[in-house]
Amino acid sequence: MNLSAAEQRILDGEEGEGARKALELVVALGKIYGAEDLVPITSAHLSGVSYKTIGDGGIVYLEHVSQGAKVRVPSTLNPSGMDSVRWREMGVSEEFAAKQLHIIDLYGSMGVETSCSCTPYLAGNVPRKGDHVAWAESSALSMVNSMVGARTNREGGPGALAAAIVGRTANYGLHLKENRSPTVVVEADIDGSLFSHSLLGQAVGSRIGNGIPYFRGIRPDWEEAKIMAAAMAASGAVAMFHVEDHTPESSEHSTEGLEVINIGDDELKDAHESLSVVEDVELIAFGCPHLSMREVREMAYYLEGKVKKSDVKVWFCTSRQVRDALPKEVATLERFGTVLADTCMVVTPVEGLYESSASDSAKACNYLPTLCSQKVRCDSFQTLMEVVM
Ligand code: F3S
Repeated sequence: MNLSAAEQRILDGEEGEGARKALELVVALGKIYGAEDLVPITSAHLSGVSYKTIGDGGIVYLEHVSQGAKVRVPSTLNPSGMDSVRWREMGVSEEFAAKQLHIIDLYGSMGVETSCSCTPYLAGNVPRKGDHVAWAESSALSMVNSMVGARTNREGGPGALAAAIVGRTANYGLHLKENRSPTVVVEADIDGSLFSHSLLGQAVGSRIGNGIPYFRGIRPDWEEAKIMAAAMAASGAVAMFHVEDHTPESSEHSTEGLEVINIGDDELKDAHESLSVVEDVELIAFGCPHLSMREVREMAYYLEGKVKKSDVKVWFCTSRQVRDALPKEVATLERFGTVLADTCMVVTPVEGLYESSASDSAKACNYLPTLCSQKVRCDSFQTLMEVVM
């Protein structure tokens, strides 16, 4: 691999042991994927935050990596295993909380911003078109590749952290323009609801795996795009999509000769049935990916004047920035459930609290059974809120 003089100095240990080890990892990953060189990054988004997912082994790793290492680019964290403030209300144990706070402190000691959200692109970590970044949350990285035109591979937690420490990542995959072309055309004939975009993502991801879809027939806003991107990344491994005449790079690639798949009501119905296996649930959770300001406002508007009549728990998961910015709307949502920040229904130890749960997010409904032992119901926000009113 071709390294610049500055990169060679890091590898020679002239900028400290933490940076040397991080660059070693970045170079090793690059060699595996055939990268010829490294590329400077403007930001990183790190996964591997929840104690539930990284465990004690992950803590040992972070304690080791964080010794003498600092990030060189703005870096944000994915959701952790609990709301950093309201974890007792969630039912999280003291032991879990202590380990979770230690993990966040370790990231903080490296200079990482410690509010934890999977929508950093809505809360301060906003790349520009053409920026190279190292992001490690499957829905978020798909959003910045697709809706922003920034460039990132589907990084793992350790790789993204190493890239943040050295300010560079290996130049392969989606960092190269030739790998960002669509691989399949999707003709979508769906209604414009948020939930239909969630099911569309489910239907497409399960059909195309790690392909790059080029959509016709939709014009998603940020909220529709994020729930669709999350579903495609969970039901498949989609890291980028184009929408005709809508996303920044859609006009830069040809679709000539590509396979065309059609997704309409029948395919959405199949996707819905594949995700929803129970009727009654103990928990209803929204905000996968984290709710935007607009979503919190719209939910509050919808719930204004209504009354909760059931004891089914409701969680609204969002970023700390959104929760702090909208106290009036948050107060309305709190009459129906708990507005949680820094965490989500999948990465918190929900399996110790509930056996069945529901969401409008196809991504959540993919992971709740497999990662959280939940029996799941998948339905729209309005349909699920009718359960409790
Ligand atoms: Fe975000 Fe958790 Fe969903 S990290 S995308 S809310 S599974």
